[in-house]
Amino acid sequence: MHPLLLLFTANVALGVTLDTEGLPDTGLDTSGWTKGALPPLADMFDLNDMQLAAKNVLPAKYYASYRTGALNEYTYRANLEVYAKVRLNGFSFRDVSNVSTSALLGQQSWATPFRSRSSSRRPRRQVTRTRPPKRPSRAAAGSAGILYVPSISSTLPIEAIAAAGRAGQVMFHQMYVWANHSRVVDELARIEAAGFKALFVTVDNTGIAGVRTRSMRYTPGSDTGHAANFDLHALAAFRNLTTLPIVPKGIKTWQDARTCLRLGFRAVYVSNHGGRVLDGAPTAVEVLVDIQKHAPEVFAGMEVYADGGVRRGTDALILLALGARAVGLGRPPMFANVWGEAGVSRMAALLARELGTSMQLMGVRDVRELNGSYVNTNAVGY
Ligand SMILES: Cc1cc2nc3c(=O)[nH]c(=O)nc-3n(C[C@H](O)[C@H](O)[C@H](O)COP(=O)(O)O)c2cc1C
Repeated sequence: MHPLLLLFTANVALGVTLDTEGLPDTGLDTSGWTKGALPPLADMFDLNDMQLAAKNVLPAKYYASYRTGALNEYTYRANLEVYAKVRLNGFSFRDVSNVSTSALLGQQSWATPFRSRSSSRRPRRQVTRTRPPKRPSRAAAGSAGILYVPSISSTLPIEAIAAAGRAGQVMFHQMYVWANHSRVVDELARIEAAGFKALFVTVDNTGIAGVRTRSMRYTPGSDTGHAANFDLHALAAFRNLTTLPIVPKGIKTWQDARTCLRLGFRAVYVSNHGGRVLDGAPTAVEVLVDIQKHAPEVFAGMEVYADGGVRRGTDALILLALGARAVGLGRPPMFANVWGEAGVSRMAALLARELGTSMQLMGVRDVRELNGSYVNTNAVGY
């Protein structure tokens, strides 16, 4: 073989070429990366960079389990793409020398209006040398002023998660309605005793999970153990089992939001579970627009939280302007967690910077000023 050709072949073998899954191209250069190794955190400039770094370092099976959506992943993709249809109205002639991104949720003050659902469940065998530390996300969320909501499916016990929080850190807990009633009673008692302040009760995959082809290639779907008969009577019975405020999570229609208002809930959580459950379900933007149209009293009567595809400060800003009091992140903290606490902290800082910058450019001093006048959703056409 010609020596020049040899040299050329050796060069192209270096670096990593990743399928970037249609994520926005912002010039991330992976040619210096090594397959299976974690790139420097300082080289991560946005949450999409972090996702691709996680993809490079996590075994394919684990990346697929985080990344997967249901069926054709229409809703997963719509979650990411809907924000491009919304136009932001920026106003001049305002004093924006002091911009505050902190928010008041459930009578608690938070440095940012974000909530993170960072899984304590993580790959047991990682090919990376930089294995994440045991409990990074809660601490990182606490120091970044983000509300942390651990999953009931975490591998760490409820009590251990509570103990890992920072002094005074308020945490909510996610909960499922298990078919096994004594398990429900036991877990509710433990969550209360551990000091969690509210429950996000997931109501969008009762009885069954979505068919997630991408992850089924590695792990067959299994029985969720959730009750399939969770109707309004069962909801009323569930509410009697705890003194903690309950936030139904997974509201996908304005009718269900209104039902929750009428039933006296203090908050609801608009979510399609990151596109992992019902493929074809609407995005949070669409549901919020629908609530504005058909049941605007919901926003006055309850706190509304929302998630799905939030990867930029502007995505969060759009949900806040459409009436959400807080926005959630599912996959991003899980991907950021490949660097442990430092990764989750950087993720929070990047988002807060994007949010604060965009607010300043729009003439908004405080997240609480955001309202429908700052967004144009005509192109959403929902
Ligand atoms: C790996 C993974 C596990 C999840 N597990 C749960 C869960 O147990 N309960 C739940 O209500 N939502 C669960 N979700 C959904 C998230 O709470 C959140 O609604 C969703 O991921 C937000 O979309 P995003 O990932 O685009 O930010 C999970 C999401 C992922 C990615």
